[in-house]
Amino acid sequence: MKKLSSVALGIPPSPTIAIDDAVRSLKAQGVDVLSLGAGQPDFQTPEDVQQAGIRAITGGDTKYTSVAGTTEFREAVAEKLGRENGLHVGPEQVMAAAGVKHALYHALLALVEPGSEVVIPSPCWPSYRDMVRLAGGTPVDAPLDDASGFALDAGRIAAAVTPKTRVVLVNSPCNPTGAVATRAELEAIGRLAVERDLWIITDEIYEKLLYDGAEAVSLASLGPEFAERTITLNGFSKAFAMTGWRIGFAAGPRHVVDVMTALQSQTSGNCSSIAQKAAAFALRGADPGPLRHMQGAFAARRELVLRAIAGWSGARIHAPRGAFYAFVDLSEYAARLPGPFDPNALARHLLAEARVAVVPGEAFGDARYARLSFATSEDILNEALGRIGSALEALL
Ligand SMILES: Cc1ncc(COP(=O)(O)O)c(C=O)c1O
Repeated sequence: MKKLSSVALGIPPSPTIAIDDAVRSLKAQGVDVLSLGAGQPDFQTPEDVQQAGIRAITGGDTKYTSVAGTTEFREAVAEKLGRENGLHVGPEQVMAAAGVKHALYHALLALVEPGSEVVIPSPCWPSYRDMVRLAGGTPVDAPLDDASGFALDAGRIAAAVTPKTRVVLVNSPCNPTGAVATRAELEAIGRLAVERDLWIITDEIYEKLLYDGAEAVSLASLGPEFAERTITLNGFSKAFAMTGWRIGFAAGPRHVVDVMTALQSQTSGNCSSIAQKAAAFALRGADPGPLRHMQGAFAARRELVLRAIAGWSGARIHAPRGAFYAFVDLSEYAARLPGPFDPNALARHLLAEARVAVVPGEAFGDARYARLSFATSEDILNEALGRIGSALEALL
């Protein structure tokens, strides 16, 4: 029997994709199933941004671009980082990529060596751990305190740092917890990185989805001593409802961006010329109306979800201050299920009894929780939350 790569075989399929597959197969059998699993806005890309993409195609922007992206795209990103994030970089410090996912993968390939450890505050987006493994490194969880709403705590991160640590990977606003790091929390992580001579990768993809007056702060903007060791990742999937366009970017020290670009020249070459055009337009010329509309819709849905969860007597939640997920502790219900503890049993139970898909918290690093996405319409949310509530209360 010819062998497959052991590294590749060690990478499980994404848990959210597994949920989507289960939902699709139930739907194919005619079952009326709803999903709160999605990690993407249910909105269309704003009309004027769509048109910018169409103009790119008809205008001939259909060729290879520089591997790091067009000058137009890189300048638009550098302007945006200065204007919105207080992070002053030149266009040569920006690399366009096929989404934050691809930018992150190249950042890890550039920074991590076999044996290096990457500290990841947990709960976290599951892809982080697997991408670190693919890059040859070892992911090390820094478990955050759920009593604090999973606040980014530099002390807990420091406790996970060893002489082998190369990188600390932070995500604020956070998927799945909805926690938004304060300036002081980020400064403390920056200081830790300086003291221990670490790189920082910061994933800021949910920066535009904020609630209750939360402020998204870019760690690299807090001082040159932090900027020189930080790779900032961001993209268009969430804020501009552009998941399918596959466009994002990395910004950081020039020598790191150059290495990432050399790597990208061999893995994919440039990302889509059309997506770069549309994204540059989104940053420079788009009507802010559709963005505000989406932000308002997410805020209203969040209220709806929090009201529903408040009625579930055994559930505990810290209201998310960013992103579009409710990360809710359902362990009291899971404990009532028959049989030995199985971290996925409650999600399976909800799929079977309520016909609603949620993502088990184990995928993110805390089996007591489940993640409910509110990137779906109020009608679906009302129906799904009603069904979940009935199935949960029946367990008590
Ligand atoms: C924290 C986080 N980072 C990155 C991504 C992927 O972003 P992109 O579509 O830009 O690759 C996601 C998508 O779910 C995410 O939740």
